[in-house]
Amino acid sequence: MVKKIAVLTSGGDAPGMNAALRAVVCTGAYHNVEIIGVERGYYGVIHEQFMPMTVANVNGITQRGGTILRTARCAEFTTPEGFEAALASLHKHEIEDLIIIGGDGSMKGAMKLADAGIRTVVIPATIDNDMLGTEYTLGFDTAANNVLEAVSKIRDTAFSHERIGIIEVMGNHSGHIALMTGIACGAKIILMPEEQFDLQEIAQKITRNFASGDLYSIVIVAEGVGDSRIIAEQLKSLTGFGTQVTILGYIQRGGQPSVTDNNMGSLMGAVAVKSILSGNVNSLIASRRGKITAVPYREAISFKNDIEPQMYELAQILAV
Ligand code: F6P
Repeated sequence: MVKKIAVLTSGGDAPGMNAALRAVVCTGAYHNVEIIGVERGYYGVIHEQFMPMTVANVNGITQRGGTILRTARCAEFTTPEGFEAALASLHKHEIEDLIIIGGDGSMKGAMKLADAGIRTVVIPATIDNDMLGTEYTLGFDTAANNVLEAVSKIRDTAFSHERIGIIEVMGNHSGHIALMTGIACGAKIILMPEEQFDLQEIAQKITRNFASGDLYSIVIVAEGVGDSRIIAEQLKSLTGFGTQVTILGYIQRGGQPSVTDNNMGSLMGAVAVKSILSGNVNSLIASRRGKITAVPYREAISFKNDIEPQMYELAQILAV
């Protein structure tokens, strides 16, 4: 019978991580299971940064972005020595069950630990929404809303100066934030790593839009596409219109999580504990077709959350 579960947050912080943590702690308390918080992700496992978590510890944390456990991208854990040290630490503290809240890199670590005999469960969290195995990752909705709020301000100044407002959003390998916010804010151009583009054609389109009375344009660029300042220079010289670049950066990852992220996080946290208690381990707590279920890692990694073609087509139609 499971008596103790450890939980950590790993990789880039994502709004909704705190809600997931709170749900893990509360569900543990409900089932009389001790919950141990690990600070700073896998680094904290290696360096034995464990602390018992109580319901009082997690009271009121759901309205805070980031993660109260702190997080890290831990290179040490990827080395054979670091991994062995992590295993030794888990054995020493009699931790056999571990919940990892994080993205693809964190899931890789969880799979490796599972192969070494630690029972793990992963709660998907990254603002990029680009994890294998799930249609939703915690943090995406809040980040997208943060972008939308920023674009509404940038639009005012782009409109007033009759410029091309170029907004770089996060997403190194994925255009989910760019596409969904681009549609929501009415961007005329959306550039994402998944789709080829031709700057000459884009410049012609912007020129046509200006000629037909638009007199400003919003262009959303995912960071993985390339340097948005260079894109701006090229568009300026191809169109002759003024450009203004805003790189939104970390403002996208912070702030109060949305209702969606808090409630998805809460549900995923509760399902993660219940999965461990029912022996449904070495799984990703995935969102599939609106349901939250534990999907074994081997199956999870065969599903890629690609850009929805219907949404991509919609973006083209709306940007006519
Ligand atoms: O967490 C995902 C993400 O925000 C990416 O969109 C971005 O490329 C990366 O993290 C930035 O990572 P770091 O926090 O290490 O600078």
